[in-house]
Amino acid sequence: MKKQLTRISNKLTKTRVLLRSPELRRHIPVTRKMDQAILLDMLGRYKMVYIKPCCGSLGQGVIRVERYGDSSWRYQAGTVVRKFKGYRRAYQAIHSETQGKPYLAQKGVRLLAYKGRPFDIRVMVQRNLKGAWEATGLAGRVAHPRKVVTNGSQGGTIFPAEVLLNANTSSEKSNALIAEMKRIGVKCARQLATAYPGLQEIGVDIAIDRHFKLWILEVNTAPDPCPFTKLPDSSMLQRIIKYGKAHGRTYNLKCMKSRKGMG
Ligand SMILES: Nc1ncnc2c1ncn2[C@@H]1O[C@H](COP(=O)(O)OP(=O)(O)OP(=O)(O)O)[C@@H](O)[C@H]1O
Ligand SMILES: [Mg+2]
Repeated sequence: MKKQLTRISNKLTKTRVLLRSPELRRHIPVTRKMDQAILLDMLGRYKMVYIKPCCGSLGQGVIRVERYGDSSWRYQAGTVVRKFKGYRRAYQAIHSETQGKPYLAQKGVRLLAYKGRPFDIRVMVQRNLKGAWEATGLAGRVAHPRKVVTNGSQGGTIFPAEVLLNANTSSEKSNALIAEMKRIGVKCARQLATAYPGLQEIGVDIAIDRHFKLWILEVNTAPDPCPFTKLPDSSMLQRIIKYGKAHGRTYNLKCMKSRKGMG
Protein backbone atom coordinates (compact mmCIF):
# COMPACT_ATOMS: atom_id res chain seq x y z
CA MET A 1 0.00 0.00 0.00
CA LYS A 2 1.21 3.50 -0.80
CA LYS A 3 2.39 5.31 2.31
CA GLN A 4 0.14 8.27 3.06
CA LEU A 5 2.06 11.50 3.23
CA THR A 6 1.45 13.56 6.34
CA ARG A 7 4.26 16.11 5.95
CA ILE A 8 4.68 18.14 2.80
CA SER A 9 7.65 20.46 2.92
CA ASN A 10 7.57 22.03 -0.55
CA LYS A 11 5.67 25.31 -0.24
CA LEU A 12 5.02 25.59 -3.97
CA THR A 13 3.47 22.11 -4.13
CA LYS A 14 1.12 22.95 -1.24
CA THR A 15 0.22 26.31 -2.79
CA ARG A 16 -0.69 24.63 -6.08
CA VAL A 17 -3.11 22.30 -4.30
CA LEU A 18 -4.73 25.24 -2.48
CA LEU A 19 -5.04 27.24 -5.71
CA ARG A 20 -7.38 24.58 -7.10
CA SER A 21 -10.04 25.92 -4.74
CA PRO A 22 -11.70 29.06 -6.18
CA GLU A 23 -12.65 30.17 -2.67
CA LEU A 24 -9.08 29.91 -1.34
CA ARG A 25 -7.48 31.30 -4.49
CA ARG A 26 -8.75 34.80 -3.61
CA HIS A 27 -6.74 34.66 -0.38
CA ILE A 28 -3.40 33.50 -1.81
CA PRO A 29 -0.80 36.13 -2.75
CA VAL A 30 0.81 35.53 -6.16
CA THR A 31 3.53 32.93 -5.57
CA ARG A 32 6.12 31.83 -8.14
CA LYS A 33 9.36 29.92 -8.24
CA MET A 34 12.03 32.60 -7.98
CA ASP A 35 14.71 33.48 -10.51
CA GLN A 36 16.33 36.76 -11.52
CA ALA A 37 13.74 37.65 -14.17
CA ILE A 38 10.70 36.60 -12.13
CA LEU A 39 11.80 38.60 -9.09
CA LEU A 40 12.32 41.69 -11.28
CA ASP A 41 8.92 41.24 -12.87
CA MET A 42 7.21 40.82 -9.49
CA LEU A 43 8.98 43.85 -7.99
CA GLY A 44 7.78 45.86 -10.99
CA ARG A 45 4.21 44.88 -10.18
CA TYR A 46 4.11 44.86 -6.39
CA LYS A 47 7.05 46.99 -5.08
CA MET A 48 7.44 44.62 -2.12
CA VAL A 49 8.06 40.89 -2.43
CA TYR A 50 8.91 38.19 0.09
CA ILE A 51 11.32 35.50 -1.01
CA LYS A 52 11.55 32.30 0.97
CA PRO A 53 13.25 28.92 0.72
CA CYS A 54 10.90 26.52 -1.02
CA CYS A 55 11.27 24.01 1.79
CA GLY A 56 12.24 26.22 4.69
CA SER A 57 10.83 26.67 8.14
CA LEU A 58 11.09 28.81 11.30
CA GLY A 59 11.40 31.96 9.21
CA GLN A 60 14.98 31.05 8.30
CA GLY A 61 16.16 32.52 5.00
CA VAL A 62 13.00 34.62 4.56
CA ILE A 63 13.92 37.95 2.92
CA ARG A 64 11.85 41.03 2.16
CA VAL A 65 12.83 42.75 -1.10
CA GLU A 66 11.59 46.22 -2.11
CA ARG A 67 11.85 48.56 -5.05
CA TYR A 68 11.90 52.25 -4.25
CA GLY A 69 12.62 55.52 -6.01
CA ASP A 70 14.32 55.44 -9.37
CA SER A 71 15.87 51.98 -9.86
CA SER A 72 16.80 51.58 -6.21
CA TRP A 73 16.45 48.28 -4.42
CA ARG A 74 16.57 47.27 -0.82
CA TYR A 75 16.31 43.99 0.99
CA GLN A 76 16.14 42.89 4.59
CA ALA A 77 17.39 39.52 5.82
CA GLY A 78 17.28 39.08 9.61
CA THR A 79 18.02 42.53 10.99
CA VAL A 80 20.36 43.50 8.15
CA VAL A 81 19.13 45.97 5.52
CA ARG A 82 21.09 46.42 2.27
CA LYS A 83 20.47 48.99 -0.45
CA PHE A 84 21.50 48.99 -4.12
CA LYS A 85 21.39 51.16 -7.21
CA GLY A 86 20.53 48.93 -10.17
CA TYR A 87 18.82 45.57 -10.11
CA ARG A 88 21.78 43.44 -11.27
CA ARG A 89 23.85 44.25 -8.20
CA ALA A 90 20.88 43.76 -5.91
CA TYR A 91 20.17 40.34 -7.38
CA GLN A 92 23.81 39.28 -7.09
CA ALA A 93 23.67 39.98 -3.36
CA ILE A 94 20.29 38.25 -3.01
CA HIS A 95 21.61 35.27 -4.91
CA SER A 96 24.50 34.87 -2.49
CA GLU A 97 22.10 35.16 0.47
CA THR A 98 20.04 32.30 -0.94
CA GLN A 99 23.14 30.09 -1.30
CA GLY A 100 21.87 28.51 -4.48
CA LYS A 101 18.86 26.94 -2.70
CA PRO A 102 15.51 26.88 -4.51
CA TYR A 103 13.43 29.87 -3.47
CA LEU A 104 9.94 31.09 -4.16
CA ALA A 105 8.83 34.70 -4.51
CA GLN A 106 5.53 35.88 -3.10
CA LYS A 107 3.72 39.19 -3.35
CA GLY A 108 4.38 41.02 -0.08
CA VAL A 109 1.44 41.78 2.17
CA ARG A 110 1.58 44.92 4.32
CA LEU A 111 0.54 43.42 7.63
CA LEU A 112 -1.56 45.06 10.28
CA ALA A 113 0.57 46.18 13.20
CA TYR A 114 0.36 46.16 16.96
CA LYS A 115 2.25 49.00 18.66
CA GLY A 116 4.12 49.53 15.41
CA ARG A 117 5.12 45.87 15.00
CA PRO A 118 3.58 43.77 12.19
CA PHE A 119 1.69 40.63 13.14
CA ASP A 120 0.04 37.60 11.61
CA ILE A 121 -2.18 34.84 12.97
CA ARG A 122 -1.43 31.13 13.26
CA VAL A 123 -4.58 29.02 12.93
CA MET A 124 -4.34 25.41 14.07
CA VAL A 125 -6.71 23.00 12.32
CA GLN A 126 -7.00 19.35 13.32
CA ARG A 127 -9.20 16.37 12.74
CA ASN A 128 -11.40 16.12 15.81
CA LEU A 129 -12.37 12.92 17.59
CA LYS A 130 -15.03 12.27 14.95
CA GLY A 131 -12.54 12.78 12.12
CA ALA A 132 -13.99 16.12 10.98
CA TRP A 133 -11.74 19.15 10.49
CA GLU A 134 -11.98 21.72 13.27
CA ALA A 135 -10.11 24.99 13.95
CA THR A 136 -8.66 24.28 17.40
CA GLY A 137 -6.64 27.41 18.11
CA LEU A 138 -5.65 30.89 17.02
CA ALA A 139 -2.51 32.67 18.18
CA GLY A 140 -1.29 36.14 17.21
CA ARG A 141 2.40 36.48 16.42
CA VAL A 142 4.01 39.91 16.60
CA ALA A 143 7.32 40.41 14.80
CA HIS A 144 10.55 41.18 16.63
CA PRO A 145 10.93 45.01 16.49
CA ARG A 146 13.75 44.89 13.95
CA LYS A 147 12.65 41.93 11.82
CA VAL A 148 10.28 41.31 8.92
CA VAL A 149 9.11 37.85 10.04
CA THR A 150 6.73 37.05 12.89
CA ASN A 151 8.03 33.57 13.79
CA GLY A 152 8.45 32.97 17.51
CA SER A 153 11.80 31.32 16.80
CA GLN A 154 12.92 34.65 15.29
CA GLY A 155 12.12 36.62 18.43
CA GLY A 156 8.40 37.11 17.78
CA THR A 157 5.95 37.60 20.65
CA ILE A 158 2.70 35.67 21.08
CA PHE A 159 -0.59 37.41 21.94
CA PRO A 160 -4.21 36.32 21.91
CA ALA A 161 -5.50 37.06 18.39
CA GLU A 162 -8.33 39.23 19.76
CA VAL A 163 -5.89 41.55 21.57
CA LEU A 164 -4.10 42.32 18.30
CA LEU A 165 -7.31 42.67 16.30
CA ASN A 166 -9.11 44.80 18.90
CA ALA A 167 -6.21 47.25 18.79
CA ASN A 168 -6.99 47.76 15.08
CA THR A 169 -10.76 47.56 14.80
CA SER A 170 -14.08 47.14 16.64
CA SER A 171 -14.78 43.96 18.61
CA GLU A 172 -17.59 43.05 16.16
CA LYS A 173 -15.18 43.26 13.24
CA SER A 174 -12.52 41.31 15.22
CA ASN A 175 -15.00 38.51 15.93
CA ALA A 176 -16.00 38.39 12.27
CA LEU A 177 -12.33 38.19 11.22
CA ILE A 178 -11.67 35.38 13.71
CA ALA A 179 -14.65 33.43 12.36
CA GLU A 180 -13.44 33.98 8.80
CA MET A 181 -9.91 32.84 9.67
CA LYS A 182 -11.28 29.64 11.20
CA ARG A 183 -13.39 29.03 8.13
CA ILE A 184 -10.40 29.58 5.81
CA GLY A 185 -8.28 27.28 7.98
CA VAL A 186 -10.82 24.46 7.76
CA LYS A 187 -11.17 25.03 4.01
CA CYS A 188 -7.37 24.76 3.60
CA ALA A 189 -7.36 21.47 5.51
CA ARG A 190 -10.16 20.00 3.40
CA GLN A 191 -8.49 21.14 0.21
CA LEU A 192 -5.05 19.74 1.13
CA ALA A 193 -6.63 16.49 2.29
CA THR A 194 -8.00 15.96 -1.24
CA ALA A 195 -4.37 15.49 -2.32
CA TYR A 196 -2.99 14.12 0.97
CA PRO A 197 -5.69 12.06 2.67
CA GLY A 198 -3.33 11.04 5.50
CA LEU A 199 -3.20 14.60 6.83
CA GLN A 200 -4.37 14.99 10.46
CA GLU A 201 -3.44 18.58 11.31
CA ILE A 202 -2.18 21.78 9.74
CA GLY A 203 -1.13 25.25 10.87
CA VAL A 204 -2.11 28.12 8.59
CA ASP A 205 -0.27 31.45 8.70
CA ILE A 206 -2.81 34.15 7.90
CA ALA A 207 -1.91 37.79 7.27
CA ILE A 208 -4.35 40.67 7.52
CA ASP A 209 -3.68 43.69 5.33
CA ARG A 210 -4.62 47.32 5.95
CA HIS A 211 -8.00 46.77 4.26
CA PHE A 212 -8.67 43.77 6.55
CA LYS A 213 -8.36 41.36 3.68
CA LEU A 214 -7.05 37.95 4.77
CA TRP A 215 -4.08 36.35 3.03
CA ILE A 216 -2.84 32.79 3.39
CA LEU A 217 0.95 33.10 3.65
CA GLU A 218 1.67 29.47 4.22
CA VAL A 219 0.31 26.15 5.41
CA ASN A 220 2.44 23.99 7.69
CA THR A 221 1.80 20.27 7.73
CA ALA A 222 3.78 19.66 10.93
CA PRO A 223 2.51 22.61 12.96
CA ASP A 224 4.34 23.70 16.06
CA PRO A 225 2.19 23.86 19.24
CA CYS A 226 4.57 26.40 20.84
CA PRO A 227 2.60 29.58 20.18
CA PHE A 228 -0.33 28.09 22.11
CA THR A 229 1.83 27.47 25.20
CA LYS A 230 2.30 31.25 25.48
CA LEU A 231 -1.37 32.20 25.64
CA PRO A 232 -2.92 33.17 28.99
CA ASP A 233 -5.86 30.82 28.36
CA SER A 234 -4.67 27.20 28.13
CA SER A 235 -7.94 25.79 26.78
CA MET A 236 -6.79 25.86 23.14
CA LEU A 237 -3.55 24.07 24.03
CA GLN A 238 -5.46 21.41 25.98
CA ARG A 239 -7.70 20.69 23.03
CA ILE A 240 -4.78 20.67 20.57
CA ILE A 241 -2.97 18.09 22.70
CA LYS A 242 -6.11 16.00 23.09
CA TYR A 243 -6.79 15.82 19.36
CA GLY A 244 -3.09 15.38 18.60
CA LYS A 245 -2.88 12.41 20.97
CA ALA A 246 -5.91 10.82 19.32
CA HIS A 247 -4.00 10.63 16.03
CA GLY A 248 -0.77 9.56 17.68
CA ARG A 249 1.13 12.82 17.75
CA THR A 250 3.22 13.89 20.72
CA TYR A 251 4.32 17.48 21.00
CA ASN A 252 7.50 18.97 22.36
CA LEU A 253 6.16 21.64 24.69
CA LYS A 254 9.53 22.97 25.86
CA CYS A 255 9.18 26.21 23.98
CA MET A 256 12.07 28.47 24.81
CA LYS A 257 12.24 30.81 21.86
CA SER A 258 9.05 32.79 21.44
CA ARG A 259 7.92 35.24 24.11
CA LYS A 260 4.65 35.72 25.85
CA GLY A 261 2.93 39.07 25.23
CA MET A 262 1.34 40.93 28.09
CA GLY A 263 -2.11 41.16 26.42
N1 LIG B 1 3.99 37.38 1.38
C1 LIG B 1 4.30 37.83 2.59
N2 LIG B 1 3.96 39.08 2.98
C2 LIG B 1 4.26 39.54 4.22
N3 LIG B 1 4.91 38.80 5.16
C3 LIG B 1 5.28 37.55 4.84
C4 LIG B 1 4.99 36.99 3.55
N4 LIG B 1 5.47 35.73 3.52
C5 LIG B 1 6.03 35.52 4.73
N5 LIG B 1 5.94 36.60 5.53
C6 LIG B 1 6.44 36.73 6.91
O1 LIG B 1 7.48 35.79 7.08
C7 LIG B 1 7.13 34.79 8.05
C8 LIG B 1 7.71 33.44 7.66
O2 LIG B 1 7.22 33.03 6.38
P1 LIG B 1 6.63 31.58 6.13
O3 LIG B 1 5.60 31.27 7.18
O4 LIG B 1 6.18 31.53 4.73
O5 LIG B 1 7.89 30.63 6.27
P2 LIG B 1 8.45 29.83 7.53
O6 LIG B 1 7.81 30.32 8.76
O7 LIG B 1 9.92 29.86 7.42
O8 LIG B 1 7.97 28.37 7.32
P3 LIG B 1 7.22 27.46 8.41
O9 LIG B 1 5.99 28.23 8.83
O10 LIG B 1 7.01 26.22 7.64
O11 LIG B 1 8.13 27.30 9.60
C9 LIG B 1 5.60 34.84 8.07
O12 LIG B 1 5.11 34.36 9.29
C10 LIG B 1 5.35 36.35 7.90
O13 LIG B 1 5.57 37.06 9.10
MG1 LIG C 1 5.50 30.09 8.89
